[in-house]
Amino acid sequence: MSLKEKKNKLLSPLSLRTALASAIFITLIFTATVHVIGEISWLQLIWLAVVLFVTSSLIVYTVTNRLHKERLKHLNTIVKNMTRKKFGDYDNDLPESSDELDLLIQRTVKASDSVNKELSRLNKIENYRKEFIGDISHELKTPIFAIQGFVETLLNGAIHDENVNELFLKKTMRNVNRLIFLTNDLMEISRLETGEMKSNIKDMYLRDVILDVVESLQYKGQKEDIEIRVKDFDKNIQIKGDRNQIKQILTNLIENGMKYNKPGGYVEIGITDFKKSKEKLLLYVKDTGIGIDKNDLNRVTERFFRVDKSRSRDKGGTGLGLAIVKHIVEAHGEKLLIESQPELGSTFSITLTRSNPVLV
Ligand SMILES: Nc1ncnc2c1ncn2[C@@H]1O[C@H](COP(=O)(O)OP(=O)(O)OP(=O)(O)O)[C@@H](O)[C@H]1O
Ligand SMILES: [Mg+2]
Repeated sequence: MSLKEKKNKLLSPLSLRTALASAIFITLIFTATVHVIGEISWLQLIWLAVVLFVTSSLIVYTVTNRLHKERLKHLNTIVKNMTRKKFGDYDNDLPESSDELDLLIQRTVKASDSVNKELSRLNKIENYRKEFIGDISHELKTPIFAIQGFVETLLNGAIHDENVNELFLKKTMRNVNRLIFLTNDLMEISRLETGEMKSNIKDMYLRDVILDVVESLQYKGQKEDIEIRVKDFDKNIQIKGDRNQIKQILTNLIENGMKYNKPGGYVEIGITDFKKSKEKLLLYVKDTGIGIDKNDLNRVTERFFRVDKSRSRDKGGTGLGLAIVKHIVEAHGEKLLIESQPELGSTFSITLTRSNPVLV
């Protein structure tokens, strides 16, 4: 603590200045009045002035110091903590706004909150960046090494071997495609996780979106011998959502339903009431696939998590689909519910808010 700070701690310069200014003013007015109206000698007048000056400065100093001291101390603590990157919860002892000092305290508390939030946001981004880079390098290794292996073999002579050259090129292409999917998903998830991608939530008809997505995936379903069914529902149902993002959720969930299914199985999309709230509904995607073990259920939405890495990879999976779904659902303020029974199938449901809520 500097000498100046020590001195300030003993004596409040703010109260002292106020006291001196007020005492001078009071002494001048009072002694002048007494001089004009009273018969008083110069010596008495000087004594009166001295006594007046001392007592009024003492009174004013004590009163102003009392009024400011605690609040200034409080303000000082907040600012000091802020400089040390310590952020307390000051909301409880926030003074009611009555003068400039209270207002200043309130503003400082607000500033401290903003700085705290900003620092946490930056820390989150920093941690996320580190983790992300680790995950990415891990995920990139597999396709890159595979491509390197095939190309090297081709260059070493296999290119002239008609039995393998086309096969190796096709495998190389498959890995290149995997890298492309991975890059797209990574870009999307990074924008979602850093909050760069905002949801544009509007009233929208659910039926159009479902039919759109189902139509685009129908061909893939036929190829894999999986039927995609849409359970009949009221075509006028409207919800609050970002059309493209809801489409993305449905695409990811239906693709998973097909990918982790058994030949001859089906994926069903439908809507049911959400029992816990009349204002919400449940959009579900149910499949007759391999299901998910209870121990893995909580982890499937983690990025890059795959129950069976080789099966998922064979089907071009990067383990980002459900992480993307979860982020979008959360950005909508909704919930993702997963139920599954190994060997029987899984149901992924999301809550959605009706834009014309049913009131009872
Ligand atoms: N409907 C499902 N049935 C069984 N397992 C599933 C289902 N959906 C997801 N999973 C499991 O959860 C894991 C994570 O799914 P996610 O969609 O995030 O990744 P992915 O399908 O492997 O890759 P992609 O990024 O291409 O979607 C999958 O690898 C799979 O093991
Ligand atoms: Mg997926």
